[in-house]
Amino acid sequence: MSEYLLIKKVFENKPVDQTIIVKGWVKSFRQSKKFSFLVLNDGTTQKDLQIIVDGTLSNYEDVIKLTLGSSVEVEGLLVASQGKQPVEMQAQRVHTFCLNSEDYPLQKKETSLEYLREIAHLRSRTNTFSAVFRLRHVLAQATHEFFTNESFIYLHTPIITASDAEGAGEMFRISTLPLDKLPKNDKGSIDFTKDYFGRETFLSVSGQLEAETFAVGGLGRVYTFGPTFRSENSNTARHLSEFWMVEPEASFSTLEDNAKLATNYVKHLIKRAMEQCGEELEFLAARYAPENLKTLEHVLNSPFETVSYTSAVEILQEVSKTHKFEYPVSWGIDLQTEHERFLAEQYFKRPTIVTDYPKEIKSFYMKLNEDGKTVRAMDVLVPGVGELIGGSQREDNYDKLIKRMSDLKMDATNYWWYLDLRKYGSVPHAGFGLGFERAVMYISGMTNIRDVIPFPRTPKNAEF
Ligand code: 4AD
Ligand code: MG
Repeated sequence: MSEYLLIKKVFENKPVDQTIIVKGWVKSFRQSKKFSFLVLNDGTTQKDLQIIVDGTLSNYEDVIKLTLGSSVEVEGLLVASQGKQPVEMQAQRVHTFCLNSEDYPLQKKETSLEYLREIAHLRSRTNTFSAVFRLRHVLAQATHEFFTNESFIYLHTPIITASDAEGAGEMFRISTLPLDKLPKNDKGSIDFTKDYFGRETFLSVSGQLEAETFAVGGLGRVYTFGPTFRSENSNTARHLSEFWMVEPEASFSTLEDNAKLATNYVKHLIKRAMEQCGEELEFLAARYAPENLKTLEHVLNSPFETVSYTSAVEILQEVSKTHKFEYPVSWGIDLQTEHERFLAEQYFKRPTIVTDYPKEIKSFYMKLNEDGKTVRAMDVLVPGVGELIGGSQREDNYDKLIKRMSDLKMDATNYWWYLDLRKYGSVPHAGFGLGFERAVMYISGMTNIRDVIPFPRTPKNAEF
């Protein structure tokens, strides 16, 4: 393999007057008998390299066959340019890896995001998707950087699990039992002792419970960052059946500490995105969300709003007098996306942390408040997306947790190990889960979650 320069490096180092080799895919082309312009990109940067090919080149007849998406290697002289980019290349040798066949489904003109979802295997070749996925990478790196700096240990929690971490029953079952010959027990129900794991197992909806066990008494502070799975039948622009979640869990931490951690983390993501993906953000803003950069800048430099659920409901009820919500608001309801977005987008106009929800609408593990009615929960709502983060201080009292589980008719025997934590060295602790795709949506300004994950999994769709 010949030594070649990544196009990102060409623009970083600008080795003007030197002969270099680049490789990539043709982004656009203009050809005539005398010379051709090729615009090349290799995925490492938003910037394209302009290449001029003179008609006197020995294999010029190959060059004029190049079309959008063809793959080439070009050797040539890098020269300063008056064009859009500060440098361009004068080709001395062009090698074609693959001429695109004529039915290439991507054309130069803008293609709709909906259409591109149908050819998700090719969409990374568009400026939009290469920008989104470079940004996604930077946000993933920034996540590890942030939690490492805060002394959290990256923990790989299992994907196959026997417990429902959210208690919402939205799990995909994993089984190797033959569907046409399910073994039955004496009671006539499916005999899962005959199944692969000897019990009923599922894809995890959250690594939280396992993360808690490592945080409390073991490592103190941990975070997970992995795929999670939910079989909820939500066909919306914000829900996936398979999504990635970042879940920190910290000992000796209260709800207030948790809210501070979440605020700092989200701001860190925005900061790194702006520093390292400026061109990507500018491109996406220009095409999809003109105000996005200004908004991010504003978010970075102002505090998040904090409001209790009870106050949020009062605000929404007051607003309901003049603003029509599809779902009526009263104390005890689970806030709908329209309510969440109204609070963050129109009322507070910034990320908003809603705390202390009614226990009935939140998960079993959240710490009960003195009032006996609300729990130490928090949701972080952001403009454009709604719920970005869900978290809480955890119930660290054994008796209260057992009581809550029995009220919810949960089978506590399945959670024996989780309950053990409350017996051995229990401490106040808290954590949250950030939906990684929702973070990418929020920061990129993309409005459909299917456009920020390489291959979206949604109800009735698992193509690719
Ligand atoms: O609010 P959730 O369900 O909280 C948990 O799973 C907790 N165990 C987290 C914790 O405390 N460790 O989910 C957390 C976040 C949501 O705020 C949302 O951003 C995202 O995960 N999320 C989804 N993202 C995409 N598609 C879905 N179906 C999602 N469900 C939740
Ligand atoms: Mg939630």
